[in-house]
Amino acid sequence: MKNLIRLASFLLLSAILFTGCSKGPKITKENFGKLKDGKEVSIFTLVNEKGFKVRITNYGAKIVSIEVPDRNGKLADVTLGYKNAEGYEAGDHYFGSIVGRYANRIAKGKFTLDSVEYKLALNNGSNSLHGGPTGFHSQLWNAEVITKDNYPSLKLTYHSPDMQEGYPGNMDVTVTYTWTADNALKIDYEATSDKNTVCNLTNHVYFNLKGEGNGDILDHQVMINADAITPVDTTLIPTGELRPIKGTPFDFLTATAIGKRIGEKYDQLLTGNGYDHNFVLNTKNDVSVLAASAYEPASGRTVEVYTTEPGIQFYTGNFLKGDQTGKAGKPYNFRNGLCFEAQKFPDSPNHPAFPTAELKKGDKYTQTTIYKFTAK
Ligand code: BGC
Repeated sequence: MKNLIRLASFLLLSAILFTGCSKGPKITKENFGKLKDGKEVSIFTLVNEKGFKVRITNYGAKIVSIEVPDRNGKLADVTLGYKNAEGYEAGDHYFGSIVGRYANRIAKGKFTLDSVEYKLALNNGSNSLHGGPTGFHSQLWNAEVITKDNYPSLKLTYHSPDMQEGYPGNMDVTVTYTWTADNALKIDYEATSDKNTVCNLTNHVYFNLKGEGNGDILDHQVMINADAITPVDTTLIPTGELRPIKGTPFDFLTATAIGKRIGEKYDQLLTGNGYDHNFVLNTKNDVSVLAASAYEPASGRTVEVYTTEPGIQFYTGNFLKGDQTGKAGKPYNFRNGLCFEAQKFPDSPNHPAFPTAELKKGDKYTQTTIYKFTAK
């Protein structure tokens, strides 16, 4: 009898969540298209208490859209992306993707762990980028609708087999997106492996707070809570140096428009063709301390970033060149989006002085990163 009552309440709760006939937070699931191998892809819409929506697909565990109001309540989708699964499979640039096993670059696609050298596919000139060609961004994840602290939440899981893309160990990864009543998208990551391995996960969402497809992000005023970057060589691999940034165009302790200094002839801006750098955060892995923010003056929309990670890749969409058409049919041109990718430092497995990215057999990798939206 008890079990029957439990089952009935569970069914009632699920019906409320899925049918959307209730007021307040809910999640709906729809078809998002098909991959080339015939597999069906789903899209989940998370609606918070205020009625604002985030859409997430189980293909690459990607954020597909985030619709938030400007200072007058006008909604815009502030993330770059494609219309359907087919668009993402054919597309590029990791829009909204979960990236792994190793976000950003590993030099020459090689690293040594426990005296064994591992070789990864080279998919970015002479380096390996974002977990390789069939990294987590290109996998179909299992999705489970849950509620977390009474907020709509989507739990995505993926099993990465031993030696996938050259990385040792069977790895089980969980990414949980939670969309809170105050427009914060919280991303909780967990991973375990049955062998020592490396693990550096991130989300590669691109923001344009004017709305996706509405021009460049040069007017966005950015703050990054960092006193140093890890400068890179011409292949965008860290040199190993931690370079203080006070007084340079990389000093974002005071919010500054991206466009104000991006054209300066500073060596690292020339190397990156703009900002494409890991900032060494001052936040000491404390998710309650503001790590970065961007404010778009015309709309007043703001995104704040909080993270447990030691670094953030601040990337100004320097590789966008207008050949990708977004979900509303508009092209994404040079610098039409910006990313704040919370991460361990790029190429850490080859830089013992960087915070370690090693995940030991039996240990648990965890990360929490929050993107919170307001309008001022
Ligand atoms: C990298 C860029 C790269 C972009 C898209 C960023 O994380 O730092 O160099 O072009 O991802 O792949």
